Amino acid sequence: MPHPYDSLEMAAIKGPHSVKWSLYGEEVLPLWVADMDFPVCAEVVQAVAARLSKRIGYPQGAGDPELLEAILAQQEAMGLKGLGRENLWLTTSVVPGIYASVLGLTSVGDEVITQVPVYPPFLNALSDYHRITRASPMAIGPSGRWEIDFDHLESLVSPATRMLLLCNPQNPTGRVFTRGELQRLAEFALRHRLWVMVDELWAGLVYEGEHIPFASISPEVAQRTVTLTGPCKAFNTAGLGGGVAISHNPEILARMQKATRGVMGHPNVAAMAAWTAALQHGQAWLEDTRNYLRANRDFLGEFLHTKLPEVKYIPPQATYLAWLDFRALEIEDTHRFLLEKAKVALNEGSTFGTNFKGFLRLNFATSRGVLQEALERIERALRARGTMLA
Ligand SMILES: Cc1ncc(COP(=O)(O)O)c(C=O)c1O
Repeated sequence: MPHPYDSLEMAAIKGPHSVKWSLYGEEVLPLWVADMDFPVCAEVVQAVAARLSKRIGYPQGAGDPELLEAILAQQEAMGLKGLGRENLWLTTSVVPGIYASVLGLTSVGDEVITQVPVYPPFLNALSDYHRITRASPMAIGPSGRWEIDFDHLESLVSPATRMLLLCNPQNPTGRVFTRGELQRLAEFALRHRLWVMVDELWAGLVYEGEHIPFASISPEVAQRTVTLTGPCKAFNTAGLGGGVAISHNPEILARMQKATRGVMGHPNVAAMAAWTAALQHGQAWLEDTRNYLRANRDFLGEFLHTKLPEVKYIPPQATYLAWLDFRALEIEDTHRFLLEKAKVALNEGSTFGTNFKGFLRLNFATSRGVLQEALERIERALRARGTMLA
């Protein structure tokens, strides 16, 4: 049966208000920056309109109490217990929280470990503020999935190592780390007395496996952890902003606040209204959207398997991102090739860490028709190039 997302109103989606659809021009199908082409949940739209028609003066500095309670209930349902409103700090969105954690918990010259490939602002937050990145490359392991190399992780530690930045579910590999993996990471962080920033923004879009909040692994590791999340991935509200830093340890939030005093601004009333409505009324919309995304993920897998087997792809367990390995095709600059010859824009792999040239990230949160057309364009461009294709 057709789904409403099969026939999106493309004229309403394209245009200068969308960076995704405007950056590369009219001819290009953009499957890059991480937002969805789908309309927002109706209850969210109504809640924003209602809030704007009521009052848009200054909100309470800590945020709307109703939102804080909804976040606490959401976290508790996922297994993060023992939190009160004092354990939450609303941030303007999630990326400022990443930067605040780095600024608050480390100093210039400190070493910080993160798995790569990873969402580029993890790396930028470190280089922008002169922290030293110790990158731990993930590799496809015996499970057939991208796995953490724990031996390599251990070899990165020095007396200057202060912090671990973790992304779970992981952007761009789509991994949902198992309890066993998280326990090993927790043990590692505790043994080396590291602070941990875990970005769990994608936790609402899991297809396989279970999202386990890192700070729920043990009370000891919770004392060293700040968890970041927000509404924008699950509910497609990126342009509104809104995020939260969560920690059982008040010292962590105090240090983040001190490091960013005067620059975080106050919570945005439209973002809070949207987020509250999403948490309170958005579950049916989210489930429907997740099902559509899962089917897109499987469609992509089938297409690549039958038409482009040279492109390696491990289906993500979460997110609407596919991490594609084009290296076997030996194209000098794959991103540019696809942009110019296929008129399809993906994200360039090397922005996710060094040694990822030849990888590209594809965002499949669009209608099945747009996804199919983009894939057919890629296939045609590769065939026209004379590349060997099965
Ligand atoms: C892991 C991760 N964190 C943060 C963000 C951005 O969050 P925000 O727009 O709330 O700053 C993204 C966006 O793709 C992301 O993938």
